[in-house]
Amino acid sequence: MEGKPLAGQRALVTGASKGIGNAIACAYASAGASVVVNYRSSREEAEQMKADINKSGGEALAVKADISTIEGCEKLFRSVEQEWGGVDIVVANAGIQRDAAFMEMSAEDWHRVIDVNLTGQFICAQGAVRCFRRCKHDPEISAARGKVIFTSSVHQKIPWPGHVNYAAAKGGLKLLMETMALELAHEKIRVNAIAPGAIQTDINEDVWSDEEGRKKMLQLIPYGRIGEPEDIAKAAVWLASDESDYVVGTTLFVDGGMTLYPSFRDAG
Ligand SMILES: NC(=O)c1ccc[n+]([C@@H]2O[C@H](COP(=O)([O-])OP(=O)(O)OC[C@H]3O[C@@H](n4cnc5c(N)ncnc54)[C@H](OP(=O)(O)O)[C@@H]3O)[C@@H](O)[C@H]2O)c1
Repeated sequence: MEGKPLAGQRALVTGASKGIGNAIACAYASAGASVVVNYRSSREEAEQMKADINKSGGEALAVKADISTIEGCEKLFRSVEQEWGGVDIVVANAGIQRDAAFMEMSAEDWHRVIDVNLTGQFICAQGAVRCFRRCKHDPEISAARGKVIFTSSVHQKIPWPGHVNYAAAKGGLKLLMETMALELAHEKIRVNAIAPGAIQTDINEDVWSDEEGRKKMLQLIPYGRIGEPEDIAKAAVWLASDESDYVVGTTLFVDGGMTLYPSFRDAG
C-alpha cells in the first residue's frame, strides 16, 4: 500500500522477534505505526529490530513476555499503555509447533501448543479489547475503535497428520475469531484472521532446508513458490488499515492456492 496508512496508530505484535511477526512489525512501522515488538526468548533479535525501527525514524518498544500466561499478556498491555496511552492494532501472532504422530503425542506437547497457539491468543485478545475500551476513539486516526488480527493457518481448514495439537489450535482459533468478531463488531472493534500457507521461517526450517522436503512442499502450492513473511505482512497492513474497514470476522487465506485442493489439478 502507498503512503502511511497506519499513521498515528499504536500496534502490538506478539512473537515479533522472528519470522512472520517480525515482517508484520516492520511493515507496520513503515506504514507509520508505533510498534511493540513482543518476544519470549529472542531478546537480541527484538532489540535489534527496535533499534532499526528507531533509526529509520519510527517508534518501537521491545517487550519480553510469555503470551501463553495471563501475567505475560498483562505486562504487554501495561507497557503499551504506560508508554503510548493505549493501542489501536493487536496482532496475536506468536505460535509454536511440537509435532508427533497422534498416538505418540505427549499430553505435555498437546498442552504446550494449545496454551500458546489458542489460549495465548484468547488471553491476548481479551487484553486488547480491555485496552481498546479504555481508550478514547479518534475516528480521524482509525475508523474502527480497535483491530485484532489473529495469525491462523491453512490448518484451520486442512487436517494435518502428525500435527494434531497445531491443527486443533488453529481450528479453534477460527471460531474464537468469528465469535469474538460477532460479539464486538457493534463496539466498532474489528476482528479478523490471516491464514498463511507455507511461509519460509524458522518454524518449518526442517522442511524447506531439505531438498526433498522443499520439493514436496512446492507440490502443495499451485502458485509455485514458498511464501515469504513479507507476503503476510502486506496483507496484515491492509487488514489493519481503513482500506479494509468493512472486513469483519473474515479469515484471509494468503497461501499461493494451498487450500484449493492442489492434488485435484489434473484429476477428473
Ligand atoms: N511459517 C509458516 O509456514 C506458517 C504457516 C501458517 C501459520 N503460521 C503461524 O504464524 C505464526 C508465526 O510463525 P512463524 O512461522 O513466524 O514462526 P517463528 O519464526 O518460529 O516465530 C515464532 C515467534 O513466536 C514467538 N513465541 C513463541 N512462543 C511464544 C510465547 N509463549 N510468548 C511470546 N512469543 C512467543 C517467538 O519468540 P521467541 O523466538 O522470542 O521465543 C517468535 O518470535 C504462528 O502463529 C504460526 O502458527 C506460520
